[in-house]
Amino acid sequence: MTRGNVKPAKSKVKTRGEKAPPSTTKIGTQEQETNSVEKIIDKYQSDKSALIQILLEIQKENRWLPRDTLTVVSKKLDVPLSQVYRVATFYKAFSLIPQGRHLFTVCMGTACHVRGSPRLLDRVEDTLKIKPEETSKDQKFTLETVNCLGCCALGPVMVVDGEYHSNPPSKELEALVAACD
Ligand code: FES
Repeated sequence: MTRGNVKPAKSKVKTRGEKAPPSTTKIGTQEQETNSVEKIIDKYQSDKSALIQILLEIQKENRWLPRDTLTVVSKKLDVPLSQVYRVATFYKAFSLIPQGRHLFTVCMGTACHVRGSPRLLDRVEDTLKIKPEETSKDQKFTLETVNCLGCCALGPVMVVDGEYHSNPPSKELEALVAACD
């Protein structure tokens, strides 16, 4: 299934496997999360046609969509959980796994590949100490790969928190990582 695009709150390009969401790793407490989810749903007056917007706001706030949250959305909107999952797994803007505070995206598309993206990815992995589709234990970094970022002439290219970088040398890469708080 090709994943669709909706405009995320912050311009980022994502790709990921459709893994089952863990139910334990949380950014806030269960109660805090449920309250904030309910507030967002109330803002849309529990309008089921606003499902995507609601999920986008929750994603922006939590940086991912935990299973318990999707259950709350399903109940409050009176939309089958299967439908909520279908939307959450279809659009690239949503993540069903915890996301770090800083997103590193390396393009592995053909144009970038022939220009050396595998070596760039190796350097990013070594610097962040995580593999693609992983988030660091301290929730600081998430590393993802995509098949094209739409700027092939700059390849190999990567994006850090929405900013594009053309094949940054190791020193520049380390500086980018060091600038992340
Ligand atoms: S293939 Fe990398 S930007 Fe197009």
